[in-house]
Amino acid sequence: MQKKIIIAVDGYSSCGKSTLARDVAQRLGFSYIDSGAMYRAAAYFFLKNKIKASGFINKPENEQTDILAHMEIEFQNINAPGKHDIFLNGVNVEKEIRSPEVSDIVSAVSAIPALRKKMVVMQRKFAEEKNIVMDGRDIGTTVFPNADLKIFMIADLDVRAKRRYDELASKGIEITFEEVKQNIRARDYTDTTREISPLVKADDAIVLDNTSLTREEQLDFVLKIIAEKFGIGNQ
Ligand code: DC
Repeated sequence: MQKKIIIAVDGYSSCGKSTLARDVAQRLGFSYIDSGAMYRAAAYFFLKNKIKASGFINKPENEQTDILAHMEIEFQNINAPGKHDIFLNGVNVEKEIRSPEVSDIVSAVSAIPALRKKMVVMQRKFAEEKNIVMDGRDIGTTVFPNADLKIFMIADLDVRAKRRYDELASKGIEITFEEVKQNIRARDYTDTTREISPLVKADDAIVLDNTSLTREEQLDFVLKIIAEKFGIGNQ
């Protein structure tokens, strides 16, 4: 079997990683995997079952394993480029995982070592059969250290907060700009300082600062690199 191409997109919260990764996947006919959605679905599972990340970490390993065994996360439509829905125990939770309540706890939940272990196993399986674009925090460092292309996205905090605020407002979610900004700042902190697989740029990642780039401009930037590197996807 021919080796599959893996494109890793990592970066800070609300940098537009999903938009870029989805656009690239769509253009190339690759599968797009939103690893953040997997951690969000886990956070939603914790929320629904009233499990606190701090309490979970102190449980014995076998109890942690038992709890996580009841959390089944899967994507549907995974092979449709750029489109998929996430399911938790058979229920579509695509909408629920974007709520402010989930955003508030997701970084703490995603710092749990046993959970990350389970997610990484799932994430690696996706790349066995398909060319993929996966976005997250540790894709180019931990999940696929040998990814064919690594993009590390950064953008100004206020610009990120404004984008996320507009997105939430358009969905009718009531939240202030300051609350959104505070959530992003807190997640950046937790994601970069956690012990296991912290958010850090891989040495061989290409930095993409999209503070003042449009969606089309950031896509062009990456497509150019891909065309040069792999000779595919050139307009
Ligand atoms: O990409 P996102 O904002 O939807 O991700 C939600 C949270 O999940 C983020 O704050 C950190 C965590 N996450 C992670 O730890 N590792 C990943 N590969 C993806 C997300």
